[in-house]
Amino acid sequence: MDRVPLSFEEYGQGVALILLHGFPLDHTIWDGLVVHLQDKARLILPDLRGYGRSPAPRGAYTMRLLADDVLGLMDSLQIEKAVLVGHSMGGYVSLAFARAYPGRLAGLGLVASQAVADAPERRQERIKLAAKVVRRGVQSLAEGMPARLTTRAEWHPPLRELIANAPSQTVAASLKGMAAREDALDWLGSIQVPTLVLAGAEDQIIPLERARLMAQMLPKGWLVELPDAGHMPMLEQPEKTAAAIRELVHCAAAGC
Ligand code: MLT
Repeated sequence: MDRVPLSFEEYGQGVALILLHGFPLDHTIWDGLVVHLQDKARLILPDLRGYGRSPAPRGAYTMRLLADDVLGLMDSLQIEKAVLVGHSMGGYVSLAFARAYPGRLAGLGLVASQAVADAPERRQERIKLAAKVVRRGVQSLAEGMPARLTTRAEWHPPLRELIANAPSQTVAASLKGMAAREDALDWLGSIQVPTLVLAGAEDQIIPLERARLMAQMLPKGWLVELPDAGHMPMLEQPEKTAAAIRELVHCAAAGC
């Protein structure tokens, strides 16, 4: 297994709660939640490989590879079981983790994410974009993506900066990994841990219906829909997002 040691921030103590960022961002998207969560859990915010201060090896970053990095982090911190919450691509990684390592999971959170794989056209778009980013850099992504992530203009400059700082190779490697991801719908029914599905009603990247579908198929799943949020509920509605995650931690620790 080709794991890399992930860079991470850590706060609080108690049940291990690992929050995974989405594409092409880093752990700082969760910063506004720390104050709401650190009294409830041992909060761990990693940078996925290639992002923030984590190493950036070459090759496609498959969701399974990223999940293996998370397992490596848990092993190095001697965490037997964790509540894993992933935003968007981080949700794809969380699903890959749930499939490969169900015994290491105490709870699961899927924030603005989905279980369906890419349609063939979407896969092709990602492969083309990966090639473009390698040729021309991430600038056009940094210009165009923030407005699709959120309509809250105050978040556009920091998001633009975050995306502009992502290395081109990392962005291309993630796009290839997302394009290759498997459909998870047919095995959602085997996830046996409490699972929060949280989605913004105004999400322009992943339609709300996909969250509703996942919640229906998860044996211990429930849906939290946030009317005034898009693809970035942790920035747009930090208190409500944190409250939903606190409930998940409670369910994982004490049962619901
Ligand atoms: C993300 O926010 O992580 C990505 O945009 C998800 C995707 O492109 O499927």
